[in-house]
Amino acid sequence: MSEKKIPVIIDCDPGCDDTAALLLAFRCPEFDIRAVTTVSGNVSLDKTTYNALRVTEAIGSDVRVCPGADRPMFRDAVYAPHVHGEDGLLGIPLPAPQKKASFYKAWDFIYEEAVAQKGELEIIAVGPLTNLSIALGKYNDLAGLIKRIVIMGGAAQGGNVTPCAEFNIYVDPEAASMVFRSGIPLCVCGLDVTLKAYLTAQEIKNIKALGTPQAELFAGVTQENCEKRFCPAGAPLHDPAAVLFAADSSYFTVQRCWMGVETKGTITLGKTVTDCWSDAQKEPNVDLVLDVDRERFAARVKELMGKY
Ligand code: RIB
Ligand code: CA
Repeated sequence: MSEKKIPVIIDCDPGCDDTAALLLAFRCPEFDIRAVTTVSGNVSLDKTTYNALRVTEAIGSDVRVCPGADRPMFRDAVYAPHVHGEDGLLGIPLPAPQKKASFYKAWDFIYEEAVAQKGELEIIAVGPLTNLSIALGKYNDLAGLIKRIVIMGGAAQGGNVTPCAEFNIYVDPEAASMVFRSGIPLCVCGLDVTLKAYLTAQEIKNIKALGTPQAELFAGVTQENCEKRFCPAGAPLHDPAAVLFAADSSYFTVQRCWMGVETKGTITLGKTVTDCWSDAQKEPNVDLVLDVDRERFAARVKELMGKY
């Protein structure tokens, strides 16, 4: 690993797997986490922000938390309480935060940090892409200042909200389309890989047995059966897969291709459209992550959780 840390902002909607992703990200030696930005997604913005504050405090970090968009660009908000609970954390009794959210709006801080990092800033986006689209619309030089965005979202095949749309893209397809057309280097960790990045029930137990409050929290939010129909072998770690890919992509399989977002369809609304190639005379615009060495992924998760 090169000694120089990667300056990152984690844009999220905590959310259970977002919480697992934050727990892991703050123990990745590769990252210099500059901020956590929050967006309406799994639950409303007030709850995702409250959760980001209390989760980062539980991690022991005083990182800045910048609230962002409280709804999609052009649509009504869509939440997922049936997956994450009404409070976004399955009612886990995590203490209320002491710190307050930053006065910076997510999109303003993303821009400020992109300028400050002189083109080295990377974004790990694991919620709807509304904040990034607002930032791109407000600052027309931003696209040239972001080194890479690693997105948890979409799928080359299938969906988890409709048969062809994944939640983060489905919630705000217009925002996603703006990001996909921005020209920023994109790595897309869609359901193709995140449903393979799962932990078995025993692996979750082994993490819980580490015995720290953070390990307890990780096990609590890593649901084993809420997506059984999509991942019968265990609990898929959607957002943690994007974080671990951003830290070290060596055990993931990537395909360079073109990918776009359906914003007008009814049945296909929110679909990330690709043929995993680019033979439709479209220039490739994403590194699509299609596979992972699951054993290495699970071992890395346990190793990072052992650092608390
Ligand atoms: O489809 C999974 C994604 O939607 C994850 O980011 C989860 O947190 C939800 O936001
Ligand atoms: Ca998320």
